[in-house]
Amino acid sequence: MQPMIPYAEIRKFASANSANKLDKISSFTVSLTTSLFSYTKPGKKLLFYNRLNGFLKILSLHIIARNGLQLSYRTPAASPETNLPRVLRSFERMAEHSGILQTDKTTNHICFSKEYKELPSKFFDDIQDFVKAPNKEKADRLDAILDGIAQDYLFIHNLTLLYNDKRVKSMAGWANLIKKGHLSYEIRLAETLSELAQLSFSDKIVSSFEESYYTRSGRDAFRQLIEPNFKEALKSLCVTTPVRNVLDIGCGFGDYIETLRHTVETDSITGLDINPEVVDITQSRFDKQPEIEILCENALNISDNESYDLILANFVLFYFTLSEQKELFRKIRSWLSPHGTFLVCQYFPDIENMKNALAMAHDDNSIFERIERHYANTTLYANAVWNDALDLFATSEQWHEFVALLESEGLKIESLRKADRFYYSLFITIRRDDEEAPNSYAIAGDEGGYTAEEN
Ligand SMILES: C[S@@+](CC[C@H](N)C(=O)[O-])C[C@H]1O[C@@H](n2cnc3c(N)ncnc32)[C@H](O)[C@@H]1O
Repeated sequence: MQPMIPYAEIRKFASANSANKLDKISSFTVSLTTSLFSYTKPGKKLLFYNRLNGFLKILSLHIIARNGLQLSYRTPAASPETNLPRVLRSFERMAEHSGILQTDKTTNHICFSKEYKELPSKFFDDIQDFVKAPNKEKADRLDAILDGIAQDYLFIHNLTLLYNDKRVKSMAGWANLIKKGHLSYEIRLAETLSELAQLSFSDKIVSSFEESYYTRSGRDAFRQLIEPNFKEALKSLCVTTPVRNVLDIGCGFGDYIETLRHTVETDSITGLDINPEVVDITQSRFDKQPEIEILCENALNISDNESYDLILANFVLFYFTLSEQKELFRKIRSWLSPHGTFLVCQYFPDIENMKNALAMAHDDNSIFERIERHYANTTLYANAVWNDALDLFATSEQWHEFVALLESEGLKIESLRKADRFYYSLFITIRRDDEEAPNSYAIAGDEGGYTAEEN
C-alpha cells in the first residue's frame, strides 16, 4: 500500500527543488518518446495527449484572435494582475504553459513566444475560420506556418465527433479504443475544452451540455483513473481512525459511496447533491441500503449538529465562489469529529513542483511518467480556464487560495496522495487545526467581498 505523503515534507522538498530542475525534459525527448511508444496501448494515450496539446495551442491562438489581443498585449506593471478578469489570468498561464505566449524578460510584457512571433495578420482570420468549421484543406493551409498542430486540432475534433457517432467504423487503431471506452474520459475532456472556442474575456461561456453531463464525465474519470487510489486512501485513513459516519458533498451518482461501503465498515453514509435528476438516480441505486441516505440539498443550506469521521468533497469546489467555499469550510470544520478527516479530490494548476516531489516519493518518475505528467499539466491549465469561463462554475481552483481558505477556517492539510496516475488530481487529507484559527486571510479576485491580497 502506498503511504500518504506528509504535506510538510512535500512542501519542503518542492521548495528546495524548482519545478524546472525536476521537470527537465526537452521537447525533443517528449516527441521522440511519444512516437516510440505510440504503437502500444499506453503509447496511444500519450499520442492522444500529444495531439490534445496541439489542439489546445490552436485554441489559444484562436482565443487571442477572437479577442483581438495584440502581439505584445499586456504590461503587468500597467495593469496589475489583481485588476484583470480572473479568466484572463488563467488564460495567460495556459497559453504560456503550452508555449504560445511568454513573458519577455527585459520588458516584462506578455507576448508571443519565438515560434509564433512572425504570424501574418491574415492568419488571425484564417484561424477563426478554421475553428468555426475545421476541415483538411484549411488545416493543410494553416500547417504551412504551424508545424502540424492544425492537424492535431482536426484529429481531436474528429475523434470527439466519432465518439458521439454510434456508427464508429473509421479511424484505424482508434475506433477500438473508443468503442471499448478506453478513451472515454479523455474524449469527453476534449469535447468540453473545445467550448473554449467561445471564450470572450468579458463574458461567461454558456454551456452546451447539461449539468449532469459533467457528473457523468466524472464517473468515467472515477472508473478509469481514480477508484484504486481512492480505496488506498480509505485504507490508510482507517489505520489511524475509525470511519463510522460519512458525508459526501456533491456525491453525484454515488460512485465514491459505493466504493466506500465495500472498503470500510461504516454505520451511516449521507450523500448530498443539489441536482434533483442526479439525486433520483442515486437514491434508487441505494434504496436497499438503509445505512445510506441521499439528500437533494445545497451543501450551503445544511445546518445540523451531526458529527462525521469522514467528509468527502470530490470535484465539487469549483461550483462555489471563494466566499461560499469559506462558509462551506466553516461548516465542515464544525461537522468534523475531533479526529475526523476532510478528504478532497481536486485538480489544481501551477503546482508542478509539488506533484513532481510527490511522484518522486511514490517512485513514479520514469521518463514515460514524467511525459504523461507534462501533458496532463498542460491540459489542466486549459481546464482551469474553462472552469473560470463556464457559466455553471464559479471559480477554478488555485492552490494558494485553497490553502488560505482552509487555514482561515481552522483546517490544515495533513498529507497528499495522487488520485490518478497522471497526478492530474490529488487526494488531500485535511484535519481540524486545533490551535486557534487565525481567520484573517484575504482572497484575491473574489466577488464575495474580501480585500485583495494573496497569501
Ligand atoms: C462534477 S460532479 C462530481 C460528482 C462526484 N463527487 C464525482 O466526483 O464523481 C459535482 C456534483 O456536485 C453537485 N453540486 C454542485 N453544487 C452543489 C452544492 N452547492 N451542494 C451540493 N451539491 C452540489 C453537482 O450537482 C454535481 O453532481
